Amino acid sequence: MTTNSTTKPFAFGMIGLGTMGRNLLLNMADHGFDVAGYDKNPAQSVLLETVVSDIPKAGKAKGFVDIEPFVASLQSPRAIMMLVPAGPIVDSVIAELLPLLDKGDIIIDGGNSHFTDTTRRATALEAQGYHFFGMGISGGEEGARNGPSMMPGGDKAAYQYMKPVLDAVAAKVNGDPCVTYIGPGAAGHFVKMVHNGIEYAVMQLIAETYEVMRKGLKLSSEEIQTVFADWNAGRLQSFLLDVTKDIFAYREPGATTLLVDEIKDEARSKGTGKWTSQVAMDLVTPIPAIDSSVAMRDLSKYKALRVEASELYGDEIAPLAVDTEAFLAQLEQAFFFSMITTYSQGMHLLASASAQFGYELNLGEITKIWRGGCIIRAAFLETMLDAYRAKPDLAHLLLAPEVKVIIDETQPGIRTVLSIAVAAGIAIPTYAASLSYFDAFRSANMPSNLIQAQRDYFGAHTFERVGQTGTFHAHWQGDLIQK
Ligand code: 6PG
Repeated sequence: MTTNSTTKPFAFGMIGLGTMGRNLLLNMADHGFDVAGYDKNPAQSVLLETVVSDIPKAGKAKGFVDIEPFVASLQSPRAIMMLVPAGPIVDSVIAELLPLLDKGDIIIDGGNSHFTDTTRRATALEAQGYHFFGMGISGGEEGARNGPSMMPGGDKAAYQYMKPVLDAVAAKVNGDPCVTYIGPGAAGHFVKMVHNGIEYAVMQLIAETYEVMRKGLKLSSEEIQTVFADWNAGRLQSFLLDVTKDIFAYREPGATTLLVDEIKDEARSKGTGKWTSQVAMDLVTPIPAIDSSVAMRDLSKYKALRVEASELYGDEIAPLAVDTEAFLAQLEQAFFFSMITTYSQGMHLLASASAQFGYELNLGEITKIWRGGCIIRAAFLETMLDAYRAKPDLAHLLLAPEVKVIIDETQPGIRTVLSIAVAAGIAIPTYAASLSYFDAFRSANMPSNLIQAQRDYFGAHTFERVGQTGTFHAHWQGDLIQK
């Protein structure tokens, strides 16, 4: 695909000039690309031009409030990205756009669309002669402005056409851009969804860590801040811990309390974590740490019921009878252990989806582009990358020797922390899910033989026998050894 018209002023168009769309467009302008943005809201278009005029050596950028002149301003083949809320709005933007496009033009959905919507749109648009790809973009406002991690999937020719722009604007790690072609179909949006599932679980693990420190160890916010800052300076270094240590140091101007202490304990979500759990169940691939994090966000919303239950059962937590320094060292191990099992669950889900949906995912390449720009970037990704480089077809991250070393070292910590916190009545379900997943995963024999027996007993569902082929059914009640 080559540009066949240079008479139009702009090389790339963006629909949706909210913070993400505007920042990504400004990032492109930073790199010398001439870009146009369209947003029905005039304030957004004006803001785009005001900001771009302050960028030294920027490419041209123009904001439009009408779609026709916006589309007419773009070089051919037109390359237009949508950064609008996922769901029906994406379909209505496409419907508004199509009458103005020519066959061969490129449409990119850069939002957090559900992968099944992306599959549907790709099929429909390809049949009509348009190029379409779904691209997960991670990094929030700051990432969009200064370098996000991007997960494009679908039409490969369109990706190749866009590659110079994407490589230029992406975050870089050791000079490598944090963007790569993910795979066919909706692979890009699927991988971004799982990224978000991991994001949910790591955020919940950090929240549970905070809960143990404040309710069990009775640490002050300043002490908690120091712990998170120390962890972030070591092997746990990650964007999410970095953000957290800042949150525990933030007061609004003139305030005497931390802002975090003024925020309601009811977490919202836009759905990507829930989708990850739903799909994981469909693909028969357990991700209990992610499931638990979704469940805890949901439980947080039942504030009135929680308050009532706290009055009924009490919610006082006695100080943990531990040496604080030693316990914090074990907590650090527990966090690392759980973080690793969380990433392992996410990667296992990606492997299942790749096999089921033909996404041809390269887990090493995905790890590589998650090292920078995205919300789940962390020092541990380097270890993950080593593991996938050593064994590109690694079936499960927990089977990698590089990972086993850390799991062996951190296991005592999570066992101690979990038993002490659970005995004290502190809710740390995502830590618990991480350890139990690991313990079941490392079990050559699970108790699932009993489940099969129960199914056969009450439903004649049959079972398979150790060392024999075929299926069997027993007359359980007729042949009981003892009653
Ligand atoms: C990212 C984020 C981004 C967004 C989440 C928030 O990778 O940049 O994941 O996509 O902040 O979608 O999700 P919730 O609103 O569901 O927490």
